Amino acid sequence: MAHFPALVGLGSYLPPRRVTNEELATAFDTSDEWITTRTGIRSRHWASPGMATSDLAIEAGHRALKSANLPPGPGAVDAVVLATTTPDHPCPATAPQVASRLGLGATAAYDIAAVCSGFVYALATASAQITAGQARRVLVIGAETYSTILNPADRTTSVIFGDGAGAVVLSAVPDADAPGVVLGVDLGSDGSRQDLITIPGGGSRERASTAEHDPNGRYFTMQGKKVFAEAVTRMGDSAAALLDRIGWPVESVDHLVGHQANVRILKALAQRLGLPQERAVVNIDRVGNTSAASIPVALADAATAGTLATGSRLLLTAFGGGLTWGSAALTWPGLTAA
Ligand code: COA
Repeated sequence: MAHFPALVGLGSYLPPRRVTNEELATAFDTSDEWITTRTGIRSRHWASPGMATSDLAIEAGHRALKSANLPPGPGAVDAVVLATTTPDHPCPATAPQVASRLGLGATAAYDIAAVCSGFVYALATASAQITAGQARRVLVIGAETYSTILNPADRTTSVIFGDGAGAVVLSAVPDADAPGVVLGVDLGSDGSRQDLITIPGGGSRERASTAEHDPNGRYFTMQGKKVFAEAVTRMGDSAAALLDRIGWPVESVDHLVGHQANVRILKALAQRLGLPQERAVVNIDRVGNTSAASIPVALADAATAGTLATGSRLLLTAFGGGLTWGSAALTWPGLTAA
């Protein structure tokens, strides 16, 4: 019997500390006016010292399981897939710890590293596991603590990124037309442009222990203008290719759930696709760019706001370092986000 991956649970978590543009303007040569007009961000949340990515991932995972009416316990899910750019440690992966602390038993657990596209990559991988019959239920989490990798001397990146986590539960269903079924995905990459978004040091190319090692190399770097242009093109082309493949006319998309990198990117993306801007889900004003957590957090916010009607068509699309990009299409199952 065929199995189709359906969204049955959704949760999100932001660390309590809210950082406003005004607060950042006391630490950097910036202003609320610059940040708001250039990015659309008004505030973001940052983890307090001692709070790691796994801590946020566990909260979001717990909420997604609750939303799916699944008591955490051994056998609740067959795999935990965690998308993150900011793992607790370079080694081992963070997902096994998240699975263990959620009480999920000896489940498969692994990280996905695709920067801001990570959640869509993780969703694609989890969907494929279900379609292949390798898993019945998968917990997919995007979680980040970018505040731990931002260069305190770089005002551009420091005002953009926020911390947070979002999670979904995918479950095998027999009906391809059931609400919530992931109907298709599109993934891509261009490693020749890896320099546009990078943490140069700390890996095998520039080892942390070498004398030449630049201590600033452990910080996140980004070439903003080039990234902006690539983001609009890559997300637009990926989303259009996916719509074409699954036979959805662009105007039939009810909600464009794009990676929350910059409100101007979201507007340019809607325009490139030929969608009215009101169809773009926007929560970047309150959360900033939460990288791999961005799409599930935006989805949870839209669900909580009551703007998603059951059966409405959702187009998810993301872009990030690598370069990587990806899109996914599904109908909204009408569940309550936790
Ligand atoms: N406050 C005040 N001024 C700032 C600033 C800040 N926080 N950050 C940069 N500036 C300055 C620049 O130094 C530059 O000054 P100059 O003209 O004197 O050289 C000026 O603002 C314009 O900078 P620019 O980089 O041209 O601005 P921009 O309109 O491209 O906006 C970004 C910068 C980063 C907001 C924008 O390029 C962007 O959003 N890029 C994509 C980011 C993204 O999506 N990242 C994640 C991808 S997954």
